[in-house]
Amino acid sequence: MSQLDLTLLLEKMTLEEKTAQLMQLATPFYKGAKDSGEITGPLEQLNIDEKHVRNSGSVLGASGSENIMNIQKTYLDESRLGIPLLFMSDIVHGYKTIFPVPLAIGCSWDLELAEKSAEVAAREAAVSGVHVTFAPMVDLVRDPRWGRVMESTGEDSHLNSEFARAFVRGFQGKDLTNDYEKVAACVKHFAAYGAAEGGRDYNTVDMSERELRETYLPAYKAALDEGCEMVMTAFNTVDGIPASGNKPLMRDLLRGEWGFDGVLISDWGAIKEMIPHGVAEDEREAALKSIEAGVDVEMMTSTYVHHLQQLVSENYITEEIINEAVLRILKLKDKLGLFENPYRGANPVLENEIVLCNHHRETARLLAQKSSVLLKNDSVLPLQKDQKVALIGPFAESEDILGPWSWLGSFDEAVTLKNGISSKLKESNLHSSKGCDVESWTEKEIEMAINTANEADVIVLALGEHSEMSGEAGCRADIRLPLAQLKLVEKIKELNKPVVTVLFNGRPLDLHGVIEESDAVLEAWYPGTEGGNAIADLLFGDANPSGRLAMSFPHSMGQVPVYYNHFNTGRPKGAPDAQIRYVSQYLDVPNEPMFPFGYGLSYSSFAYYDATISTDVMKEEIEISVTVENTSERVGEEVVQLYVRDISGEVVRPMKELKDFKKVELKQGEARKITFILNEKQLRYHHADLTYKSDAGAFRAYIGSNSRDVIELPFQLVK
Ligand code: GLC
Repeated sequence: MSQLDLTLLLEKMTLEEKTAQLMQLATPFYKGAKDSGEITGPLEQLNIDEKHVRNSGSVLGASGSENIMNIQKTYLDESRLGIPLLFMSDIVHGYKTIFPVPLAIGCSWDLELAEKSAEVAAREAAVSGVHVTFAPMVDLVRDPRWGRVMESTGEDSHLNSEFARAFVRGFQGKDLTNDYEKVAACVKHFAAYGAAEGGRDYNTVDMSERELRETYLPAYKAALDEGCEMVMTAFNTVDGIPASGNKPLMRDLLRGEWGFDGVLISDWGAIKEMIPHGVAEDEREAALKSIEAGVDVEMMTSTYVHHLQQLVSENYITEEIINEAVLRILKLKDKLGLFENPYRGANPVLENEIVLCNHHRETARLLAQKSSVLLKNDSVLPLQKDQKVALIGPFAESEDILGPWSWLGSFDEAVTLKNGISSKLKESNLHSSKGCDVESWTEKEIEMAINTANEADVIVLALGEHSEMSGEAGCRADIRLPLAQLKLVEKIKELNKPVVTVLFNGRPLDLHGVIEESDAVLEAWYPGTEGGNAIADLLFGDANPSGRLAMSFPHSMGQVPVYYNHFNTGRPKGAPDAQIRYVSQYLDVPNEPMFPFGYGLSYSSFAYYDATISTDVMKEEIEISVTVENTSERVGEEVVQLYVRDISGEVVRPMKELKDFKKVELKQGEARKITFILNEKQLRYHHADLTYKSDAGAFRAYIGSNSRDVIELPFQLVK
């Protein structure tokens, strides 16, 4: 449709139809729905009627081509103007072929494979009738108590920005209108949802605008620069105002300064939640603040349909502000080709052919291999295929390895760790026993596990968190493994046999009670549908671990938040002239994390040498190189990381900032020169007055295998 046609269509709509077009309802409200779809928030009385549903603009959480075609057909048969529904769902890390959770994908440092995973997810979703995915989630995270860290790609804004771009490319492709195997993306949650105080979901977020712009906003901007079609508001406050009613954030920054003219959708109920937040006395005021802030679609509350018309008639707002919102939605429907074909990519035959096809499974298996992080290996991995293995723990045969955002994933389709290991060993060499539940144990179960373990050469412990202990509203104040599992570890350790621990969890954990007791620890996260195969590949050396942490593991939960790009303070611990006591430290634990950002082991070993810098006086750009040699007997991947420190700024500057990285595969004995170009733009930052520029002065470049183990190369920036 042309712009004119859309405007003419808008002119035909009544005000009542316009306000309903701004409402998004979950699947159960629609005739023809075959199931209840995805319910991802509190269901409460909306006080809407048939007329509201008949004129609503979009559907949340529907899936399945026949189901969605049925809803669309039934809806259009009763529609006065024939404006098709938009179908939006959370396809966060896979549709039915579930990939590792995004925090795991962040640990892959493999942008190409991340993009591929989004392509696969989009393909499966699109042929199943979905038009928009509520992803990527790019909230920067530093607090592992927060349940949704699993949904982010971690603690660094550069890495998050690169993954945000990759996911948007994968979901949307290059021609969203004509490529029916792509879906529109919706970057979320704008903004800074990951900075909730205390790591408690929906809690207050409060920081300077400078910190917001410097650390938390870049990844959202990266997604939008990559062409992301939609933005979703966050539940939290930003500078004292809930995001969904935050005009400075939404009208001034997102739409004004950044020029975003796409569809802005509230999160589930977030508009009405301005009442409990305490910035709206009633639904009418919540509706007024949200429409003024530029929120187009109200997800699963009904303040717009109940109050916008009256706000117009009482001259609190003009009909124009509603027209703008409606037009943005009509434009998105037009861009997706829905006026020409309301069923778009929905195709039951294709759905049956490609959903969970082998190629998709293979992609998921490869990404799960590359997303797992080997944290410790005292020469017990890889296992040999003639070893007797005892597989012990609540995740030994668990299908709960898909993660919290896998509502369409099927446990039946998931490959458990036992299934995966069984494919590597003859039957007599593998015996398993649960040992305990995730959060409870019995003496009998532990005794059975001990008996099983006694027969083995090596014990593989499969431990972790229920997926409900992670994800939205899945926050934990105690981020150790549940005590039942720590008791199991303790009992198994007494056998004095080699112990390999595999972790299935959605957050960095406090690994006290596990790390010392294990000879090897492999962080598998929630590895998805092919998780069991991928982890078995890694355990037996059919794949070489290459994951590197995208989020620090604390030494103790008392340190949290602990992250690599921290400031130095005026009394840094360990400085040459530092005092023993009067420095920034804890009396009982170190300042450093147990495992730092960028850290991960491999079965290969890599040497770094001949680090060089093209000049130590930089004007526009410099070249930084290092030779990396695979000194082992096996092919392996290494993530070469480049960090920079601005020694003195107008404001304090982080000890290190990731500026670039390269994941390279090196053959055994191969040495390769890795070169980075660092330019002046990468040294810019937000000054006290928010100007974004670099300063002349002293810098350090750091190159290495993680944010701790680096080679330092000083240089000066001159103007
Ligand atoms: C949830 C989540 C959001 C999701 C939405 C729709 O509350 O916060 O990430 O996209 O509702 O399911």
